[in-house]
Amino acid sequence: LETNELDVIHEIPLYRPFVEKWAQVESFQARPDDLLISTYPKSGTTWISEIVDMIYNDGDEEKCKRDAIFNRVPFMEMSCPGLRKQLAVMPLPRLVKTHLPVQLLPVSFWEQDCKMIYLARNAKDVAVSYYHFYQMAKIHPDPGTWDEFLGKFMAGKVAYGSWYDHVKGWWEKKKAYRILYMFYEDMKKDPKREIEKVLQFLGKDLKEEVVNKILHHTSFQEMKKNRTANYEMMPAWAMDHSVSPFMRKGMSGDWKNYFTVAQNEIFDAHYKEQMKGSTFRCQMEI
Ligand code: A3P
Repeated sequence: LETNELDVIHEIPLYRPFVEKWAQVESFQARPDDLLISTYPKSGTTWISEIVDMIYNDGDEEKCKRDAIFNRVPFMEMSCPGLRKQLAVMPLPRLVKTHLPVQLLPVSFWEQDCKMIYLARNAKDVAVSYYHFYQMAKIHPDPGTWDEFLGKFMAGKVAYGSWYDHVKGWWEKKKAYRILYMFYEDMKKDPKREIEKVLQFLGKDLKEEVVNKILHHTSFQEMKKNRTANYEMMPAWAMDHSVSPFMRKGMSGDWKNYFTVAQNEIFDAHYKEQMKGSTFRCQMEI
């Protein structure tokens, strides 16, 4: 890897130690029965992780609640010694997640032909959610004003890099690999249908009442008060929920409360340019 390829994750000071040990991440050994959940940050990672975890536990809420979400579904790229050990002792089959852009995913995931779920969310809502997250999750540098942050987001100068490259990169990969490509907006609109899509992809059949239980348990209202899913277990120095709760609004179209008319025009033109030539589409107007 060229060092500059890692710039996208250098942005977060806390991640620098594992960037320096990149070889450890690169050599991550996936198992064929691993399920990878991949997202650009703020696209609903925690939501889809909770859904899949509930499915893996056949709708047993207590089992799901036994640990915090970042332990139940750890980030693969943070495979610093602690997490590496955690992944090694995790019950099988493992659920792992990542925010890595497609070109940085350790090759063993492709070699093992692991099933993967990619969840995308429209860029404008992601930018708004990310702005709040930068403020509350103290590992991030100061995002500046909303206008400044939006500029950085559009330029891909935020943690994990360009949203445009991320969604397009994973979109291309689904042609050749077992990737279920999902959208946050679809999940908001018809969560039951989307849960059923996941079940089908995983080759799982659950009773209607179990599906309904999963639906209820993973609703925004339930997840917001669930301490094992809402990140309130994180120490205050890492996440300050009084600045902005992790479970903030959980809606589609909140961008309309933040984008000025001028910002929206500039964004739309830039979006068109960035997405030129791609068949990727997502819903911006809700
Ligand atoms: P908002 O900041 O727009 O509210 P991630 O888990 O990738 O960091 O994404 C966090 C975003 O997903 C936040 O968006 C959060 O509120 C939203 N979210 C989390 N759980 C959700 C749920 N069950 N339903 C809808 N949105 C959810």
